[in-house]
Amino acid sequence: MDRNLALEFVRVTEAAALSSAKWMGRGDETAADQAAVDAMRKAFDSLRINGTVVIGEGERDEAPMLFIGEKVGLNLEDSPAIDIALDPLEGTTICAKGGVGAISVIACAEKGGFLHAPDTYMDKIATGPAAKGLIDLDLSATENIHRVAEANRKSVGDVTVVILDRDRHSDLIAEVRKTGARIQLIGDGDVSAAVAAAWMDSGIDLLMGVGGAPEGVISAAAMRCLGGDFQGRLKFRNENEKERARKMGVTDLTKKFKLEDLAKGPVMFCATGITDGPLLSGVKLYAGGKAKTQSIVMRSSTGTIRQVETHHNFSLKKGLM
Ligand code: FBP
Repeated sequence: MDRNLALEFVRVTEAAALSSAKWMGRGDETAADQAAVDAMRKAFDSLRINGTVVIGEGERDEAPMLFIGEKVGLNLEDSPAIDIALDPLEGTTICAKGGVGAISVIACAEKGGFLHAPDTYMDKIATGPAAKGLIDLDLSATENIHRVAEANRKSVGDVTVVILDRDRHSDLIAEVRKTGARIQLIGDGDVSAAVAAAWMDSGIDLLMGVGGAPEGVISAAAMRCLGGDFQGRLKFRNENEKERARKMGVTDLTKKFKLEDLAKGPVMFCATGITDGPLLSGVKLYAGGKAKTQSIVMRSSTGTIRQVETHHNFSLKKGLM
């Protein structure tokens, strides 16, 4: 995959972040999400790719833009065919409340590189490079924590696990507490949490628990770039969800998806902060139509991680904001 594309993708997540950030704290999730979607869709138009959205805003009949199967990019004769997994606003509620860690995110792979995950739940576990190959969804939380502690040369009491604060996690939380490990309960945004588990100096060692399956695929792409590890298993609430999964080509509904089952081949990951978070600063708006964004962009083939701080001057780019 062309390395120059990486920086092109930053423009796309920046556009979505800048637009949705205007809605920070205004309590309107739909408007914040719509702003991100509109801006991201528009930004794709200038990209020299033949892109197909494989993880997007939903199926064609439920999403007017960035739906699964939608073609994006200039689609010129020499444009590379790329599969795209995106979430223009990951953490809709976070943005609407002005909370911590909303991001705009895109991951891309060569054709067929991503699992076509249905919009269901997924049981997830993610960790950094030190414990790669040692975590396993089939093991108990206790065993996984002990393995991660040993790999990171820490005592169990110094391990920090991120878990979405949901009733469905009460048993998991109780088990983790029993091990003595520390827990960070988050309201939303498990893509950032997965990235944090593999991010140097984040202080996070593990992500565990059930979140969105599309977010799982995006997180797996990030873990490929960071050298971390991730596993996921789809969780269904009803027959309808199982049918959706089958329709998207999932044959084994109980399969434990390993990292490369979710994101294989060369992949790229790009995210821009919308609200301030542990990894990325949110959009800052300044006088005179100026703004600042912070993004990360990484590629699995080289392991290069770029942190991009961009100063925008919208007085010179009329109509763009
Ligand atoms: P949205 O941005 O789509 O609102 O997703 C936020 C999120 O917290 C994800 O990070 C997570 O995977 C999922 O929702 C968890 O789902 P639920 O809120 O139903 O527990």
